[in-house]
Amino acid sequence: MTAQIIDGKQIAADVRRQVAENIQNRLKENKRAPCLAVVIVGNDPASHVYVRNKKNACIEVGIQSLSYDLPSDTSQQHLLSLVDELNANPDVDGILVQLPLPVELNSNEILERIQPEKDVDGFHPFNLGRLAQRLPALRPCTPKGVMKLLESTNIDLHGQEAVVVGASNIVGRPMSLELLLAGCTVTTTHRFTRDLAFHVQRADIVIVGVGKPGIVKGEWIKKGAIVIDVGINRLSDGRLVGDVDYDIAAQSAGWITPVPGGVGPMTVACLMENTLEAAKNT
Ligand code: GUN
Repeated sequence: MTAQIIDGKQIAADVRRQVAENIQNRLKENKRAPCLAVVIVGNDPASHVYVRNKKNACIEVGIQSLSYDLPSDTSQQHLLSLVDELNANPDVDGILVQLPLPVELNSNEILERIQPEKDVDGFHPFNLGRLAQRLPALRPCTPKGVMKLLESTNIDLHGQEAVVVGASNIVGRPMSLELLLAGCTVTTTHRFTRDLAFHVQRADIVIVGVGKPGIVKGEWIKKGAIVIDVGINRLSDGRLVGDVDYDIAAQSAGWITPVPGGVGPMTVACLMENTLEAAKNT
């Protein structure tokens, strides 16, 4: 079997087009364009690339973006004050603080300061709690994007064995909640999992978000499984690869996402969708 490719680039473009159409209709009703405040602290090159992609998507769909590019020695108090100011600004619909923040800063305190209605990343405990209670409000962008990729296969998700590799706050944990909400039987694996191969080998759906190339061996993939690779790693030769041995996995999988061009564009597209949703709710 050779896997069918799940084209995240195409599906993300469809999501952005729908968001753009929706915004055009709002403008015709004399509503203002949604507005996203994007905050980045420090000089992490990958974070700057991600933020540039997000701002470019805003331009494409007609979302106004405000940029706050802060130096790496920004204090906790300064960042909290900026979040307070953006929370209070009625012209701002969404607030995104790009992670990771410099280690001196307390990320949890910053994320919890964002008003849940403006938390377009879906990282606030209120929004995660809503997802856990089957009442999703603003949903974390990467897992939300992965669900759209899964839906694109038209496979019924109810009762599927889903294995999530990695239990981060940004990907693994909310991903497991999304899959549970969709009716999957969910296993979350993490650094203390004893036998990763055992879990992956029995999975109908494998979602990998660790940030380690080759952590999931291609030989482990069950025949016909759906493989979603959230990892994005730059090798010393400059190549971008995911966390899964793609070439070997694609020989057994039924469906697989490429890296790049799989999950990455979906995260940005879902951020646009969430910003529109936040604007509708204010
Ligand atoms: N860093 C890596 N992924 C993300 C994301 O989805 N949102 C934010 N704010 N930071 C990230």
